[in-house]
Amino acid sequence: MKVAHEITAQAPSAQALDVGKIRADFPILRQKVHGKPLVYLDNGATSQKPQMVIDSLNRYYSEGNSNIHRGVHFLSERATEAYETARQKIRRFINAGSDQELIFVRGTTEAINLVAQSYGRTFLKKGDEIIVSAMEHHSNIVPWQILCEQIGARLRVIPINHDGEIVLEEYRRLLTDKTKFVSVTHVSNALGTIAPVKEVVRFAHERCVPVLLDGAQAIPHLKVDVQELGCDFYAFSGHKLFGPTGVGILYGRAGLLDAMPPYQGGGDMISLVTFEKTHYNVLPYKFEAGTPHIAGGIGLGAAIDYLVGLDWERVAAHEHDLLAYATSALSRIDGLRIIGTAREKVGVISFVFDHIHAHDVGTILDQEGVAVRAGHHCAMPVMQRFGVPATTRASFALYNTRDEIDVLVSGIHRALKVFK
Ligand code: ALA
Repeated sequence: MKVAHEITAQAPSAQALDVGKIRADFPILRQKVHGKPLVYLDNGATSQKPQMVIDSLNRYYSEGNSNIHRGVHFLSERATEAYETARQKIRRFINAGSDQELIFVRGTTEAINLVAQSYGRTFLKKGDEIIVSAMEHHSNIVPWQILCEQIGARLRVIPINHDGEIVLEEYRRLLTDKTKFVSVTHVSNALGTIAPVKEVVRFAHERCVPVLLDGAQAIPHLKVDVQELGCDFYAFSGHKLFGPTGVGILYGRAGLLDAMPPYQGGGDMISLVTFEKTHYNVLPYKFEAGTPHIAGGIGLGAAIDYLVGLDWERVAAHEHDLLAYATSALSRIDGLRIIGTAREKVGVISFVFDHIHAHDVGTILDQEGVAVRAGHHCAMPVMQRFGVPATTRASFALYNTRDEIDVLVSGIHRALKVFK
C-alpha cells in the first residue's frame, strides 16, 4: 500500500500543541452523535466555531446591531467601527498592503465570480486563454467557463500527475501570448495537495499575466502572506477559518481593483447617483453593494483574534502529525487506496475501496459518530482524473486528535465487515 512520501508521524512531545485546551474552546465538539462522542473530520466542508466567535455574534445582535456606513447615531457608528476593525485584522492576518485591497464578499465562490465578471469581462476578449488546474473546485472552474461563453475565450487546464501534483512543465507549455489570466487553487479540497503557487505566480508574471489563488482550503492550515506569494488576487471563506458562514474575502492589488468596474450595483458602492450618471465609491466600497454581512465580518475578525493567539508553529506541527498518523494508519487497511499522495499535502485524506461506495463508508462512519464527507467534493474533474466516482474524505483541523483518527480507523474496519 502506498504511503504518501515524506510524511512521517512523530511522537507527541512536550512542545506539542495543547489540543485539550483548544477543544475546550469549541462547544460543539462536546456533543454526542448517535450516542457516540462526535469526531468531526469534515473541516474541509466547514470548520467549527470557537466560543469567542459565537460570543461576538451574540454580542453584536444583542447589543450592537445597526447598519453601517450610513447612520449618524451611536449604534451605527459603533457597528461601522467594529466592521472596519475586522477588515484591518484580516489585512494584518494575510499581510495585505492596505485595507482598500480587502473586499468583503459572501465567500470564495463570490470572490472568484467577482473577478471573472469584473476583471474578465473588461480585460479579456475573444481568443484569449484562461488557465486553471485539473484539481480545481467547481467554484474555480464554472465562473471561468461562464466568462468563456460570454466573450469567446478559452479555458486551458494544467494536468496533475498520479500523485495529484500540478505538472509545472505542462503549465509552462500552456502559458503563451494568448494567456490572459491564471486561476489556481492553493490547496486542493479533494486531494489535500499544496500547489506550487509561488512558481505558478512567477511563471505567469514573467508574461505579465495576473494570478488568482483560491485560498479556501489553504488559509485554515498555512500561513498566508499575499505579498510574499506575490499573487494579484487571493480568495477565501470565513466559515472554513473558524468564522461565520456567508462571509469571505477577496484580496486584490489596489491597482487592478481600481481599474475594474463594479461587480454589483446598489447602495454603498456609489459616491453620487443621478439618472444621467453614477459615480462609484472608492475602494474597497466600490465592490461592496448593499448591506453586507455585518455580523459575519465582525465574527470573522473574532476568529482571527482567536487564531493569532495561537502558536502557529505548533499548530502546523500538530496538523502535520495528524495527517502523517492518518496516512500511515489508513495505508495499513486492506483494499484502501488513498487518492492524493502529493509530497506537499495538508489537511485532507481522501480514500476509496474498490468494492464499497464512498457514501456507504460515510454512512457507517456516521453511525460511529464520525463526520466525514463522501462524494465528488465539488471537484468532479478530480474524480474523473483518478477514475473514481467519489471518495470518502477526512479533513482535519487544529482541534482534531490522534484518538479521533483511531476512531475513524475502527469505523472503517466496521464498514469493511458490514460490506464484506
Ligand atoms: N468546498 C467545500 C468542501 O470541500 C464545501 O467540502
